[in-house]
Amino acid sequence: MVEIRYTRLDGFEVFASYGDGYMKRVAVLTSGGDAPGMNAAIRSVVRTGLAYGWEVYGVEHGYRGCMSGQFRPMTARDVGGIIQLGGTILGSARAPAFETEEGRREALREFAQAGIEALIVIGGNGSQQGSQALSEMGFPVVGIASTIDNDLYGSEITLGVDTALNIALEAVDRLKVTASSHQRAFLVEVMGRDSGYLALMTGIAGGAEAILIPEVDFEPAEIAQELREAYQRGKAHGLVVVAEGAKYNAQAMVDYFRENHEDLGFGLRATILGHVQRGGMPGAFDRNLATRFGAKATEAIHKGDFGVLVGLTKGAITTTPLSEVTSNVKQLDAGLIELAKTLAM
Ligand code: F6P
Repeated sequence: MVEIRYTRLDGFEVFASYGDGYMKRVAVLTSGGDAPGMNAAIRSVVRTGLAYGWEVYGVEHGYRGCMSGQFRPMTARDVGGIIQLGGTILGSARAPAFETEEGRREALREFAQAGIEALIVIGGNGSQQGSQALSEMGFPVVGIASTIDNDLYGSEITLGVDTALNIALEAVDRLKVTASSHQRAFLVEVMGRDSGYLALMTGIAGGAEAILIPEVDFEPAEIAQELREAYQRGKAHGLVVVAEGAKYNAQAMVDYFRENHEDLGFGLRATILGHVQRGGMPGAFDRNLATRFGAKATEAIHKGDFGVLVGLTKGAITTTPLSEVTSNVKQLDAGLIELAKTLAM
């Protein structure tokens, strides 16, 4: 049994106790950048929540919808036929107003008016900062780790990254075909914000000559040398995977080579994949991960285990306190960075 107390914006003191069988109305939202598998997670939350006997509400447009009371009841049929869809049927948003205490109090008032007793937040880093802030104000929240960036502490793999990785890889495979025909080197830029995870894994799986990520410092002249040597070793094409957060992006690298009249042997092209990576249908891995994450999130609420993030650790679905999630930075595997260099021979 968990007891909470908080003050609504109108000054009303809310006192509630939760535990097995006490919860009646629970809401779910998707926040931040959409990720393939979010719909499968919504479906799982709604159906496992209904199985506990709750009313489940969807919040439209993430935290923005919390502050303006955009809640809609969700039935089992409302989430039928969505497991294979990319994006999010609830809509997502970035909501700077929710970063203020005033904004969060607006949301608490809307929850109280609608009788919503707990919230499940499907999202990445920024979204889970919001979960933690709400949780600190005494509201029952459970997060689900979801971002294509895979930069969230508390989950070794986040929802959406596997599908995004496969989309990037398909693009790389196609680019290698045309690159080989023309003896070109392609600099392919992938998403990831400040994290090099997507670039590193795309580069390893795509057989890149070089992988440029924010976590490792580099100079364009070094990359020029690596490409020149690859050409001299007789490679038919060159591939450099560049993280969007790297010191130089793909176009800046090409511009540098041209301005400095670098003769690399290969002709050069830059391709920026961008949001293409976010829009795909979730693959089997993400659909199943989403389904397991959703079920764990409702189980946590049922048990009164609030203020936690649902994630994947050593193959198991786990919960980690949001305070720990938001105060730690996930690190890239240094061994994989070294392996990528060895394989580029
Ligand atoms: O966090 C997911 C992500 O796709 C990042 O990889 C990228 O930097 C960012 O979102 C793009 O944000 P937006 O969709 O607002 O352009």
